[in-house]
Amino acid sequence: MYRSHNCGELRTSNESENVTLAGWVHKVRDKGFMVWVDLRDRYGITQLIFDEERSSKTLIDQAQKLGREFVIQVEGKVIERASKNPNIPTGDIEILVAKLVVLNEALLPPFTIEDKTDGGEELRMKYRYLDIRRNPVKESLIFRHRVTQEVRNYLTNEGFIDVETPYLIKSTPEGARDFVVPSRMNEGQFYALPQSPQTFKQLLMIGGIDKYFQIVKCFRDEDLRADRQPEFTQIDCEMSFVEQEDVLNAFEGLTRHLLKEINGVEVSSFPRMTFDEAIKKYGNDKPDIRFGMVFGELNAVTQHKDFNVFNSAELVVGIAVPGANSFTRKEIDKLIDWVKRPQIGALGMVYCRCNDDGSYKSSVDKFYDQDDFSKWAEITGAQTGDLICVLSGDASKVRGQLSALRMELAEQLGLRKPDEFAPLWVVDFPLLEWDEETERYHAMHHPFTSPKPDQIALLDTDPGAVKANAYDLVLNGNEIGGGSIRIHDKETQALMFDHLGFTKEEAKDQFGFLMNAFEFGAPPHGGIAFGLDRLVAILGGQETIRDFIAFPKNNSGRDVMIDAPSPIDEEQLAELSLKLNLKS
Ligand code: AMO
Repeated sequence: MYRSHNCGELRTSNESENVTLAGWVHKVRDKGFMVWVDLRDRYGITQLIFDEERSSKTLIDQAQKLGREFVIQVEGKVIERASKNPNIPTGDIEILVAKLVVLNEALLPPFTIEDKTDGGEELRMKYRYLDIRRNPVKESLIFRHRVTQEVRNYLTNEGFIDVETPYLIKSTPEGARDFVVPSRMNEGQFYALPQSPQTFKQLLMIGGIDKYFQIVKCFRDEDLRADRQPEFTQIDCEMSFVEQEDVLNAFEGLTRHLLKEINGVEVSSFPRMTFDEAIKKYGNDKPDIRFGMVFGELNAVTQHKDFNVFNSAELVVGIAVPGANSFTRKEIDKLIDWVKRPQIGALGMVYCRCNDDGSYKSSVDKFYDQDDFSKWAEITGAQTGDLICVLSGDASKVRGQLSALRMELAEQLGLRKPDEFAPLWVVDFPLLEWDEETERYHAMHHPFTSPKPDQIALLDTDPGAVKANAYDLVLNGNEIGGGSIRIHDKETQALMFDHLGFTKEEAKDQFGFLMNAFEFGAPPHGGIAFGLDRLVAILGGQETIRDFIAFPKNNSGRDVMIDAPSPIDEEQLAELSLKLNLKS
């Protein structure tokens, strides 16, 4: 038996018991005549004591030779500590060691294994197994486990069946590039790793599994950000014989359950907002509704004077920043510089201070009077003490810019509280989205999403205006899930492929299996997939998903620990009938 107890469980009630512990040497304090060792494992830290009076010389010698992160096993007696440590649960006791075995020595770790470490991100990733020994990382993994357990419990209780789908498949379009795997046995042919199990879950519906879920890895070759990884995990779900309302209710249930069980929060409301409304009021399709600063469109009250910047703009739009009249001129200039950075791209920012005496002071006083400003205040909902920030220009660009400014200000003003949760369904997404680069329509969600039935005719006349039975679940300004009611008949699916620019042959070649299956009695169906990494991070009060993934990739998609991706040798290439034609 390696251990009778773990390092987090012994208390004064265990006093005078003989125990065996195993773990890592966290710290050694050597006073010559007395040595203390903090022994650590997943469960906590227990103090070991070796002293001249009660321990043999050899034992003290042995203890003095221990280095940080050595793996040891000790046998000894639980005794009450002379000076107690109220900061740890085992702080009232220590182990008077009778026997010490070094199970494995350790090199000096490249960073300290402490909650606040001295290791930089890249170093911690290179030695991720050491990073995982640190409490914050370990706790994040345990937290993730709790979330997935609750998801499984809830969905299983609701009658969902967990079915695994293959990883070596044919491309499923979710809007990113595929990772591909060459097939040795089929020369010149490739599998694609799934961007999602989308088509398989639809085939499961045709197979009669009317409630499916899977906690599943998905692979997307796309630009990485704090909330994106090339391989990530979805809670993928699908249901048969449902309408949009049924799916929203089912997954509102799951979300409520998680917030309650994991965070102890009962959300009072679960509002819905159309895509159009979200864009108009918040400038993006995943608004954080925990705070105000709702957009006020100011064209009607700004384009009647000689201010050309506004007169020539498609959209003039502002937000009232609460209490921000206290910003100094320097602080406002900093904001202006912030919106002018290339990442945001605004040409400038007009502001208007709402003074305590009810007067206004603006950067465009030359053009507008107090009456005008009071209208700006009315439309943006500004109160005395607020600052109105106004941007103008091309409508879609300016909405994006003001949305970014709104989030930045909310961050600065501490309005994005990590322990406050505001879920939101965004519904009625457009079916198609115009892509400037390819000059074609793309499916906004994916090509299997059904248009709203009464709008199918619009596909021929005004494709961009067609709305879909598609929805996103937004939590605190993050898209944590997305789904739709699917097309379940061959004709509509063919029509959709046609509008997406597929020839009949291309559609048959890529999705013939699905179109055929539709002819064998496909039930109406729909579903959703949650981004598990994002969900876990947000429930954990953070937005960087890397912290909740045991072995994440860095921003260039590399695993710096195992050094992947890496070249393969000539022999392997030949076996796969591949020849490299490197650009550099
Ligand atoms: P979608 O593409 O919206 O839908 O993906 C669902 C959710 O997955 C998360 N997500 C990601 N998380 C981390 N890294 C990424 N690279 C990444 N990409 C997406 C997001 C997103 O909301 N098959 C459909 C679902 C359906 O229609 O049922 C799909 O995959 O949180």
